[in-house]
Amino acid sequence: MSDNNIVDEIFNNILSGKSLIKNRRALTIDYVPDKLQFRDEETKTIAQTLSVALKGSRPSNLLLFGKPGTGKTAVVKYVIDNFIKKASKMKMNIHVPFINTKFANTAYKVLFEIAEDMQINKAGKEYQVYFTGLSLGEATDRILEYIKQQQLHVILVLDEIDSLVDKNGDDILYNFTRANERITEGGFISLIGISNSLTFKDKLDPRVRSSLSEEELIFNPYKINQLQKILSERIVIAFYENTVTDGAINLCAAMAGKENGDARKAIDLLRVAAEIAELNNKDQVTEDDIRSAQYKIEKDTNNEIIKNSTTHTKIIILAILKSKQGNTGDVYDIYSRFCLQTENEPLTQRRVTQIISELDQLGIITTNIINQGRYGRSQKIKLTISTATIKEALKDDVFISPLVNLIDQYNIENN
Ligand SMILES: Nc1ncnc2c1ncn2[C@@H]1O[C@H](COP(=O)(O)OP(=O)(O)OP(=O)(O)O)[C@@H](O)[C@H]1O
Ligand SMILES: [Mg+2]
Repeated sequence: MSDNNIVDEIFNNILSGKSLIKNRRALTIDYVPDKLQFRDEETKTIAQTLSVALKGSRPSNLLLFGKPGTGKTAVVKYVIDNFIKKASKMKMNIHVPFINTKFANTAYKVLFEIAEDMQINKAGKEYQVYFTGLSLGEATDRILEYIKQQQLHVILVLDEIDSLVDKNGDDILYNFTRANERITEGGFISLIGISNSLTFKDKLDPRVRSSLSEEELIFNPYKINQLQKILSERIVIAFYENTVTDGAINLCAAMAGKENGDARKAIDLLRVAAEIAELNNKDQVTEDDIRSAQYKIEKDTNNEIIKNSTTHTKIIILAILKSKQGNTGDVYDIYSRFCLQTENEPLTQRRVTQIISELDQLGIITTNIINQGRYGRSQKIKLTISTATIKEALKDDVFISPLVNLIDQYNIENN
């Protein structure tokens, strides 16, 4: 069959097959359902904290923690939406900029987005925060001056706040948490920080830490039976009736629950499984589709991780692939040789060991300590992904592809 026919068959399959999904949007990451099960306590706490703003007082700063997919963003968005509706009904002038600092990835971009959200740029030249050009201090001053002048009530939500601090330190947070000392009359600014790193607070200056976490709230991972209910509810919104088997729901919840109690993972698995089932012209999503989805997601994730790694990390991955002994020394020797061949200055052994342990955390490799009798102990490093995935991820990197070809010549098969 020519390639063209294969493509055509895929299109025809999807067109002739029964659609299983009736509302695709309900399976996307930014969809916020009307009801968030198992988060009543968290919803109430946030609503209570914010409620004082409806009476004109400054809410405490609030820091939310929890592993990925535990509903932090969804719950905050849900409360904020309702809060804004209420405030505008009461004709209150409250601003709630919601910034995801992972996407607004420089400190300046965060300030620019805050200014845009508050429409400061329309307020006249003296407060304008341009897209570029001001110093951080000047941009912050303008925002704070504007809040003071206009006596604004501002609740600033910084989602994925750990990413802001990792890249830019905590200066912005310092300025904003201290701002209320400067804005003495009328206006105020409160912060809601959301982080999926439980150790995030350790990275903060003690002064920032204590002001930012006037209140704290922890989101626990979902249990398997909770994920089953979350999935069932989402299925009613997103799928036609009787198109997902109970077995598929249970397996999906079990897989997502086993890892981190991650609702996003559960919904992603379901979406990909449904796409696989639709592509194969099936009229139900079954356990097999969930398993295929898990395989596909893992493969795609690993591919992304490798593709987006630094050149040195890529070379280290290839060195691990090439190494027969799999110990740190051997991997380092091969890595250094590969660096020479690609005209890269090798990193120190210490740094390479660090990168190896990062790869371990990402699940790309496993490391076992093995006892070598009188030679002491040594680490045995093994890749958890196939040679094919690595080659696929590196094939378009012009600096690395000569090494990949070299690996081909050695004809090393990892799996
Ligand atoms: N209690 C719930 N009921 C229904 N859907 C939920 C619930 N909790 C989370 N979800 C869904 O799971 C997905 C992930 O949730 P959310 O984005 O809020 O996680 P998060 O805690 O912010 O994760 P991260 O730390 O990775 O940003 C979203 O699609 C959300 O709609
Ligand atoms: Mg989030």
